Amino acid sequence: MDPPSPDSARASGKSSESWDFGNLIGLILAVVLAMVVVKLSTPTVMKPRLWSPEELAKYNGSDPKLPVLLGIVGSVFDVSKGRKHYGPGGGYSHFSGRDASRAFVSGNFTADGLTDSLGGLSPLQVKSIMDWHNFFQNSTKYIYVGKIVGRFYNQSGLPTKEFVKATLLAARGERIMKERKKEEDRFPTCNSRWNPQQGGEVWCTTGYPRIVEVVSDGLYRGTSDSRCACFDEKAMNSRKGLLLYEGCPPLSQKCQSSPPQV
Ligand code: HEM
Ligand SMILES: *[C@@H]1O[C@H](CO)[C@@H](O)[C@H](O)[C@H]1NC(C)=O
Ligand SMILES: *[C@@H]1O[C@H](CO)[C@@H](O)[C@H](O)[C@H]1NC(C)=O
Ligand SMILES: *[C@@H]1O[C@H](CO)[C@@H](O)[C@H](O)[C@H]1NC(C)=O
Ligand SMILES: *[C@@H]1O[C@H](CO)[C@@H](O)[C@H](O)[C@H]1NC(C)=O
Repeated sequence: MDPPSPDSARASGKSSESWDFGNLIGLILAVVLAMVVVKLSTPTVMKPRLWSPEELAKYNGSDPKLPVLLGIVGSVFDVSKGRKHYGPGGGYSHFSGRDASRAFVSGNFTADGLTDSLGGLSPLQVKSIMDWHNFFQNSTKYIYVGKIVGRFYNQSGLPTKEFVKATLLAARGERIMKERKKEEDRFPTCNSRWNPQQGGEVWCTTGYPRIVEVVSDGLYRGTSDSRCACFDEKAMNSRKGLLLYEGCPPLSQKCQSSPPQV
């Protein structure tokens, strides 16, 4: 091989200098590109903030570039990781882009049912909605991203009277739930079976079937709910308001609860 001529050496030195310069630009471009890629592929972590209902409506999952957000009792959660439930076509898509708190207990996913109004709901129903709120809050899958300015939070992000009311109602619901559990521990629910030939039957393995009113859910005092529970003789005599099944002897462990269907 011929040694490089001074001319070509000069030329090569010059080109090496400009290659270095090109390398630097390339490096900068690569770094910028990498930053853009990382930025685009990392879902932006939203800082909790205040939302208007109108803004929230854009996050119903119809725009694939936006996260899916859901409101419940005024709190907003990013439920993008549950897009298959909460996105378009998902079974729970009606919860997205809005606060449809009431539908969590009514199961009414029609336009009228999709509201954050809790008016007329019982303590246990409000408790059930608060349990759903806690489900989203406790979830490692879903992220809290703020509050809706409206029914439950005001422009300062502070709880409204309605929020306080809901909290108190839920607390009452929790007490009712505990009382019902206590009752069911003391007086276990009867076994039961039903078929068209034999109708309904209830029976106790220890004690005797009695119809007893369940602890009232506040609102429905008029139309009290009842259940079949097993009472021993002592409890039976001290407890007021117990009813016998029609045609069932007081000390029978098994009773007909409804007639056969011919
Ligand atoms: C008031 C009525 C109902 C409400 C408000 C409700 C609400 C919900 C919500 C919010 C989820 C999603 C939980 C999550 O993000 O992981 C869920 C999941 C689920 N629900 Fe319901 N639901 C109702 C009734 C029903 C009924 C009647 C069924 C069955 C016939 C059902 C079956 C399921 C199943 C199987 C899942 C789990 C889905 C999965 O993780 O793949 N739900 N429900
Ligand atoms: C979601 O919101 C967009 C824009 O706000 C609207 O055009 C679209 O109809 C909504 N989709 C559903 C399924 O409600
Ligand atoms: C849902 O609510 C609306 C308005 O209150 C009512 O007309 C409708 O019958 C309800 N649908 C169901 C399935 O409960
Ligand atoms: C969820 O959080 C509530 C309070 O925010 C707490 O009382 C409850 O025990 C938690 N539930 C679970 C399953 O972690
Ligand atoms: C928000 O509510 C708090 C009390 O709950 C009240 O002190 C405050 O003035 C309210 N702010 C606005 C902007 O309404």
